[in-house]
Amino acid sequence: MSDNPQSFNPDTTDLDRLHPAVKREKADVESGTEQAPMWVIFLGFIVAIIAGGQLGPNVGGFDFNVSNPFASSRFPDPRPVDGTAGAALDPLQMAMKKGAATYALCGGCHQGSGLGVPGAFPPLAGSDWVMGGTERNIRVVLHGLQGPIKINGADFAAPAPMPPQGAVLSDQDVANVLTYVRNNWGNKGSLVTKEMVAAVREKEKARTAPWTGPELEPYAKAEVAAEPAK
Ligand code: HEC
Repeated sequence: MSDNPQSFNPDTTDLDRLHPAVKREKADVESGTEQAPMWVIFLGFIVAIIAGGQLGPNVGGFDFNVSNPFASSRFPDPRPVDGTAGAALDPLQMAMKKGAATYALCGGCHQGSGLGVPGAFPPLAGSDWVMGGTERNIRVVLHGLQGPIKINGADFAAPAPMPPQGAVLSDQDVANVLTYVRNNWGNKGSLVTKEMVAAVREKEKARTAPWTGPELEPYAKAEVAAEPAK
């Protein structure tokens, strides 16, 4: 004897027991709510995509040719023109940021503090060379410097010359790093541009030996005439 109550109910038939199962499997579908075939659904997607592409530019004011999706003929760019976004594009800020990275090359000798090492590497902080003419500074970095020099009126004799950096640094690198040293540690100096560096590099392309102090004396206050960076 099973404990299934249907097994001893005389009114229970096989059909009664099958009915709920059959109804569950094949639920009646009301007219109008039948499932759409797959291809109709895909067609719907394609129509939606094409319609979106037409409605966006033609009705919504979206412009495919403007990379900034906020700016279009119908909606002007809502972002502020000045303020933080403008500061990121400021040439001095940009050069200071990149120059700080390039300075890693100089810092081994001139130190992170820009104070150099007495008797070995001259200071860049407060140096009348650094804050003087752009032309002398560009020459020092491109071709190096040797022999005794005078910094802020004091004699300085390095045991080894400054090696030329022009082969490893691009015009832009030299411009950035000089702008950085001319405006760091309390220094105040003008922006050095890559056009200025390119002009000096071209003028002195035959030069191989490092400069000496007396050779560069005429350029102590000279500014390179070159178009400023656009
Ligand atoms: C290997 C060490 C060394 C490296 C690297 C070096 N310098 Fe110098 N630098 C010197 C020495 C030494 C002198 C002084 C040479 C002399 O007395 O004739 C000098 C002199 C200078 C001067 C002129 C004097 C002064 O102190 O104002 C400037 C400007 C300068 N270096 C900038 C740089 C910059 C910018 C870099 C990086 C791109 C750099 N140097 C990398 C060793 C170095």
